[in-house]
Amino acid sequence: MCGIVAAVGTDNVLPILMEGLKRLEYRGYDSAGVALVQAPGRLGRAREVGKVAALEQALVAAPLTGMTGIAHTRWATHGKPSQDNAHPHMSGRVAVVHNGIIENHLALRAELMADGFVFTSETDTEVMAHLVERELQRSDSLLQAVERAVARLEGAYALGVIDAEAPDRVIGARQGSPLVVGVGDHGCYLGSDPLALLSVTDRFIYLEDGDLVVVNQGGCTVHGLAPDGTRQEVVREVMRFEHDDLAVGKGEFAHYMLKEIHEQPVAVANALEGRLGADRVLIEALGPQARELLADTRQVHIVACGTSYHAGLVARYWIEELAGVPCQVEIASEYRYRQVVAPPGTLFLALSQSGETADTLAALRHARRRQGDDAYIGSLAVCNVPGSSLVRESDLSLMTHAGPEIGVASTKAFTTQLTALMLVTLALRQVRGGDPELTARLVHRLRYLPTLLGDAVALDEEIRGIADGLASHRHALFLGRGSQMPIAMEGALKLKEISYIHAEAYAAGELKHGPLALIDETMPVVALAPMDDVREKLNSNLQEVRARGGELLVFADPESGVVAGEGVTVVNVPACCHYLAPIVYTVPLQLLAYYVAVARDTDVDQPRNLAKSVTVE
Ligand code: G6P
Repeated sequence: MCGIVAAVGTDNVLPILMEGLKRLEYRGYDSAGVALVQAPGRLGRAREVGKVAALEQALVAAPLTGMTGIAHTRWATHGKPSQDNAHPHMSGRVAVVHNGIIENHLALRAELMADGFVFTSETDTEVMAHLVERELQRSDSLLQAVERAVARLEGAYALGVIDAEAPDRVIGARQGSPLVVGVGDHGCYLGSDPLALLSVTDRFIYLEDGDLVVVNQGGCTVHGLAPDGTRQEVVREVMRFEHDDLAVGKGEFAHYMLKEIHEQPVAVANALEGRLGADRVLIEALGPQARELLADTRQVHIVACGTSYHAGLVARYWIEELAGVPCQVEIASEYRYRQVVAPPGTLFLALSQSGETADTLAALRHARRRQGDDAYIGSLAVCNVPGSSLVRESDLSLMTHAGPEIGVASTKAFTTQLTALMLVTLALRQVRGGDPELTARLVHRLRYLPTLLGDAVALDEEIRGIADGLASHRHALFLGRGSQMPIAMEGALKLKEISYIHAEAYAAGELKHGPLALIDETMPVVALAPMDDVREKLNSNLQEVRARGGELLVFADPESGVVAGEGVTVVNVPACCHYLAPIVYTVPLQLLAYYVAVARDTDVDQPRNLAKSVTVE
């Protein structure tokens, strides 16, 4: 998704802006640009379609310098990827970068054109540049002009604005799209994601909706919006971003995705850290009100998008079986637009790696609005990004501690989400007085989970060896049963996201109700066969595939009874209890997708058309 970086420093800020853009590359984009105040009254701008490297090259040919600047990576929403549509957009002395969608841009465009402004792009953003330019003619300051301009906007935005005549400042604005201020020793910055600024600071102010901020060399001033629409200067807390900067690099790995797959044993250990007692989950570690909220919970509504949605689907099996609590899981973009019946005592559980996914946030806000009417008793965010909107707006939050995830295809964020959801499940079970022996056994197994994941990651070589066989196919089917069904969905999603092979997942029992018609020697079938109550039934499903010439690739427990043979490749997955098997079986499917994508020479970390964090609807 689009990314913003802005800086006001004591030296040329171009290197900081370019480093920031590179750090945002993982979010997915199609063009990039930068604008700097080169001298009072003079703006310089460069924009290129494609990667940040293309912009970098353009800047070698025609360098820009300045101590104040804004930069942007764009993921097209209004208008195709092109140089004209790339940000920053300019109007006279003003340049603007924008994330989000301005919903009333057509009306504003017509109004501005009638006023004589000439548009050079198809974007919604350009209206903002002209609005500020127009307001500057009747305002005392850039801040006032931006304030008046944003008052005209409907929709979602994070904005960075510079003015050639006010070379010492950048104005930022936030409404519905994330924006942080980075407070450094030699300057002050704006970023749509703190990761963009980690090379210059680890101190951040997370702006709130409605905030305007004036950023200059020495610091910043935040102007908050009161409920009555008036503005006043406010003090927002400066928070330290805990990180290991090395974790942001690729290290010895060819891609971030491979690195992040290999990080899973440590990431899951971090997700468990401090949350397990000898034989139970430490509910207090989930937050001071957690015990009360979980005790009052009568059912759970899990809402998420993409990979996070798959984690939610697994959790439904756990929450219903281990805690006896009814659980419903829904894609956020559906949930928020239908008349959901939330019976009294509904816990709203929002699941998101980034904590900024527009649909998930909107669903949370929708639920919170109804919290007073007795249906929803509270909200719990399971999230990887501290300080994100989802975390700030939920009653309770459980951080997954995966560390920065850069590859667009989610890996360690997913397995740590599952781990966190197992903790929530066991906490729900404990407050309901479920048999403590099984709880204790699961707690013991959770402690051993990082080791198991290490064994699963060690399948790397073996899976690399079989990936070529799949790489030449155009389609693939993934089969699983029970809590492995969502893992089959996740395996199919990983494959299509990064290798562009069309892949579908089916509950193995559904095979004969339609998809069996697709099976012939050109349709590889990937199946998950852990030790569970339905393994005999799964074996029968696999026979049905073999009998029709389908090639099978089975990830199986060593004791599952699935035998390799002609047309049947078996990869033995480390033996594990069936509750935790979904977490363990995820790893070989990630590796499979990864090596198939490598064999097909795709852009693994930044697959085409996709974005890491989808902050528009
Ligand atoms: C995008 C990403 C996916 C992610 C989904 C939900 O589509 O490409 O990897 O699963 O958003 O993101 P979230 O941050 O809410 O988990």
